[in-house]
Amino acid sequence: MKIIAASILSADMGRLGAEVAAAERAGADWIHADVMDGHFVPNLTMGPMVVEAVRRATRLPIDAHLMIEKPDDLVERFAAAGATHISVHAEACAHLNRSIQLIRSCGASPGVALSPASPLALIEWSLEYLDYVLLLSVNPGFGGQEYIPNVLRKISDLKREVSRRGLRLLIESDGGINERTIPDFARAGVDVFVVGSALFGSLDYTRTVGALRATAEAVEAADAASRL
Ligand code: DX5
Ligand code: ZN
Repeated sequence: MKIIAASILSADMGRLGAEVAAAERAGADWIHADVMDGHFVPNLTMGPMVVEAVRRATRLPIDAHLMIEKPDDLVERFAAAGATHISVHAEACAHLNRSIQLIRSCGASPGVALSPASPLALIEWSLEYLDYVLLLSVNPGFGGQEYIPNVLRKISDLKREVSRRGLRLLIESDGGINERTIPDFARAGVDVFVVGSALFGSLDYTRTVGALRATAEAVEAADAASRL
C-alpha cells in the first residue's frame, strides 16, 4: 500500500484549512508539515499552532517533519497539537535513541530524517526502534526543487537492510517527487511519497493524487512480476 503525503509547504497558507481539506478529498493519505527554524535549515515556516489548525481541518494522520535544532524541546508540543507522526533529523540529535523514545512516549509514531549527504550509518543502530525513516531527496528548506539522483541508491540500500532484518518500518522520500519522477522512487522501494509543489501547484488535486498513486503502484506491480 503506497502512501501519498501532501506537503503543505506548497499550499496557499492564506487558505490553509481549505487546502488541507481539498488534499484529503483528493485522496491524499497523510498531511506532511515541514517545520523549519531558520537555524537547522535556511527557512522559517510553521510551529505547533499551525499543526493545531491543520488538525481541525482534517482527520488524516499529520506527519510533522522537524527540521529544527534541539527537536527534543518541542516534540511534546507538536504531539499535543495533533501530530500523529513526528520525525527528527539524526543530524540534530545528540542522543537519537532518547529522541525516539520521547516521541513514542508522547503517543506519536517516531521517524528519523536524514539530509541527502548524511549516510545511513547514522541510523543503522536505531532502525529497530523506528516506525519510519524519512530520506530527504533535496537539500532541505524549500519546495519545488529537482531531486538529487544519488539519493536513490540510499533508498535501495535502506530497503535491502529493512528486508534483511525483517523490519516493518516505512521508507519515506521527501523532495522533488512528481508524476515524472515518482517511478524512480517507487522502483527504489519508497512506501511514503511526500508531494508538495506537484500537488498544490496542480489544477486538479484529485487527478494528481490519482496519477501519482497509479504510477507508483504500476511500478511496484511490474517489479514484483519481474521477480517471479
Ligand atoms: C523540503 C521539504 C519538503 C518539501 C517538498 O525541505 O521537507 O517536504 O515540501 O516539496 P516538493 O514536493 O515541492 O519538492
Ligand atoms: Zn518534509
